[in-house]
Amino acid sequence: MVFSPFAPDFALTATQHQGWPGLIRQYRQFLPVTEATPIVTLHEGNTPLIPVPTVAAEIGRKVQVYVKYDGLNPTGSFKDRGMTMAISKAKEAGDHAVICASTGNTSAAAAAYACRGGMKAYVLIPDGYVALGKLAQALLYGAEVIAIRGNFDDCFSLVRQLADHYPVTLVNSLNPYRLQGQKTAAFEVVDALGDAPDWLCIPMGNAGNISAYWMGFCEYQEQGKSQRLPKMMGFQAAGSAPLVTGELCRDPQTVATAIRIGNPANWEKAIAVREASQGQFNAVSDGEILAAYRHLAGKEGIFCEPASAASVAGLLKCKDQVPDGATVVCVLTGNGLKDPDSAIANSDNQAHTGVANHLETVAHLMGMA
Ligand code: F0G
Repeated sequence: MVFSPFAPDFALTATQHQGWPGLIRQYRQFLPVTEATPIVTLHEGNTPLIPVPTVAAEIGRKVQVYVKYDGLNPTGSFKDRGMTMAISKAKEAGDHAVICASTGNTSAAAAAYACRGGMKAYVLIPDGYVALGKLAQALLYGAEVIAIRGNFDDCFSLVRQLADHYPVTLVNSLNPYRLQGQKTAAFEVVDALGDAPDWLCIPMGNAGNISAYWMGFCEYQEQGKSQRLPKMMGFQAAGSAPLVTGELCRDPQTVATAIRIGNPANWEKAIAVREASQGQFNAVSDGEILAAYRHLAGKEGIFCEPASAASVAGLLKCKDQVPDGATVVCVLTGNGLKDPDSAIANSDNQAHTGVANHLETVAHLMGMA
């Protein structure tokens, strides 16, 4: 095969590209793609499962704790897993434009993959509540960014109506291809551990990701790739916790803007996952989220965004329930660089600024002179 950058799936032969081929090619037997599907990829997936011994030490009892660091995807969040599928299928269908509502990460991923697939992306975001890095991405990838005076739930209601009335394809997690792509994260966890973990701790906003992980764990078990299924432990921010309280949250508030959602799109699915896995949903306060955020960065060298730290905050909150010798995976959904403002505002550490260009002065600040 002759390589052409204009071939529909940017195909590369094995000798030209020996690396990770992206999650659709890696897991194509588990995904609804055919020879006719043009694969729009940024070689997403294959993110590391990293042991976090200082978190395990807080639990004790020989528990093993890992984080699935999905912030290392091409646009810095797990949304790339779903977007490679949604955009590839939209391209297969001949669509020219896609739309989503977003707290930021979905908009960045939609913008990047639409660009890659030669499509237009429209993104609706809650004005003033999207982290800086996510906004910067959507702009530079060339999306039409529309900031609404309202919250995510208002944006979501608008995009559903827009997709019904205009020639734009919805790429929020109601698009079934999104969850198909995202389920591959569960495959990777099992591939890395040799079996499913005992607990899977995960932040919830719209609850698409918890639904996708569960689908992945179940499919892998059916194929004999794993022996067991995990308990699915979902966590929401206390000020935005409809799945915990069982009631709509009309004015969601949390420092974890990525999961500032009061009316999750996948509500029923999430409840079904909790029941089927004998899992639990719990709320964590902003203080607990930020403590876990600082712990991961300051004790493990892992920089995630605040919403992602809800998984570790939740594990620590429920630590007395972790069985002896259990294996626990916490999902870190997004990269810390997405939200530099939160990092600077919530760090215990401060830069020495305006320091003289002078050897002894610097040595003194270093505590060495
Ligand atoms: N973590 C991060 C960093 C997110 O961006 C999101 C959702 C979640 C967790 C929750 O995932 O919605 O599948 O339960 N972000 C969406 C967005 C809402 O627009 O980027 P979920």
